[in-house]
Amino acid sequence: TNGEHVAALVIGTGYGGSVTALRLARAGVDVHLVEMGMAWDTPGPDGNVFANTTRPDHRSFWLRTRTKQPLSNFLGFPLDKDVPRHTGILDAEEFGGITVYQGRGVGGGSLVNGGMAVTPRRERFGAVLPSVNADEMYGTYYPRANAGLGVTEVDTRWWESASCYQYARVGRKHAERSGFPFVFVPNVYDWEYMKQELAGLVPKSALAGEVLYGNNHGKKSLQKTYLAQAKATGRVTVSPLHRVTSVAPAASGYTVVVEQLDTAGAVTATKSVTADRVFFAAGSVGTSKLLTRLKATGALPRLNDEIGRGWGDNGNVMCGRANHMWDATGKLQSAMPTAGIDNWDAGGAFAEVAPLPTGIETYASFYLSITKNPHRARFTWNASAGRVELDWQTAWKQPSVDAAKTIFDKINQKEGTIYRTDLFGAYKIWGDHLTYHPLGGAVLDRATDNYGRLHGYTGLYVMDGSLIPGNTSVNPFVTITALAERNIERIIADDLRRPG
Ligand code: FDA
Repeated sequence: TNGEHVAALVIGTGYGGSVTALRLARAGVDVHLVEMGMAWDTPGPDGNVFANTTRPDHRSFWLRTRTKQPLSNFLGFPLDKDVPRHTGILDAEEFGGITVYQGRGVGGGSLVNGGMAVTPRRERFGAVLPSVNADEMYGTYYPRANAGLGVTEVDTRWWESASCYQYARVGRKHAERSGFPFVFVPNVYDWEYMKQELAGLVPKSALAGEVLYGNNHGKKSLQKTYLAQAKATGRVTVSPLHRVTSVAPAASGYTVVVEQLDTAGAVTATKSVTADRVFFAAGSVGTSKLLTRLKATGALPRLNDEIGRGWGDNGNVMCGRANHMWDATGKLQSAMPTAGIDNWDAGGAFAEVAPLPTGIETYASFYLSITKNPHRARFTWNASAGRVELDWQTAWKQPSVDAAKTIFDKINQKEGTIYRTDLFGAYKIWGDHLTYHPLGGAVLDRATDNYGRLHGYTGLYVMDGSLIPGNTSVNPFVTITALAERNIERIIADDLRRPG
């Protein structure tokens, strides 16, 4: 409520925000979580909370009147359609050279993502977070994050014969025949539930193609893990459909300005609260946009020059391959990926074998590659336009395409197959216009100290993917969670417990 004072205000309810809320609350601190998206706890007219991936509706996109599906075309037909403008779950945020997909709602990206819960190979960690002690991460914080998120491995005996993973087994066969290591990756999906989906015993979720616009069953989003535990402390308040627009020093602590939104995106109230400490966990883009604007417009002028820098796309690039008729990938495809092709050391690419859950046989293999891309972009404030811009250029994806080609050119040659040209527009092979994995913009040990404390202001912290300098070599949310676990433990010990 307007004029309220809170001990700790957390902006955003994704991985960084959820870890922060749970650990602060367990340490006895009252926490207020502010989230611009919806609560996602109420069924829609069809009885489901979330819309299906194949039938996007008003719930699917954040304040758009037309869908912007990552796979825009199929067999020559554009897939996008008009939808009512609504505070939906997936934001396709457009910058000059890239569309950045992000989750919107209580749970952040955990609501929309594929649940792939991957810890980077230890020998690669030094390149991911150079200033962080790897022994501590692999000894304490990665295990803590994996436990908190409910990460488990698929039962490979079941997987070997499950019809819904035929696409992945075809992916393995092609990878191995070309000499690439094929690795299983853990997930947060409830595998027992998926087995029952396949057996026809429970309502289908992953096997109904649910991902991107939410999972009605089976996926352990943050709503079911960290946030449920945080709420159980009784010390955590969540305000959905509230967007933070300003943070500035007050007589004691900080003044935080928050806009309340209706489901059409209109501002219905503007509130001002004060907080002793403010934790920025609005995601790489959300936190970077806020800090860049607040520094440039004079609300937080002492933030340093590293704000807005070091942003990367985790080298995301997508492609499909057209298989021969004897390599059918299956009509029924689980929306939760289980495996990848690891050519990081030799070619700079880790390709997840992704589903294409269209409900029909496509004879297509589909991949999302994470690649070693050296380009880093910067957020800047455009005063005349009144917005934050990102200087990423479309052409900067070329190193990612080249890295992905080290895998798929070879597989195509070996199998006598070709790339699909119909998935991203007419005769367009590479999905090089987007990322699912924004990282950086307030990099650890540069914009902040080595634990996320923002330089220039006591009591302001960054806790999300903006701390990571642009690449994690695998899918990022386990690393975001583990880093938040590490940082908040230190912040609680040093900033909240130390007397005086
Ligand atoms: P996150 O983006 O999760 O949360 C930030 C929250 O802050 C959001 O809820 C947002 O609405 C809110 N917010 C922003 N600005 C605000 C403001 N001004 N006021 C109030 N609230 C504000 N990763 C992975 O490891 N495995 C995977 O399989 C996938 N798959 C995948 C698929 C798709 C489609 C997407 C879009 C993403 C993935 N990811 C993924 C990426 C993963 O989801 C992502 O890295 C994390 O969610 C980022 O966590 P953060 O805590 O940084 O922010």
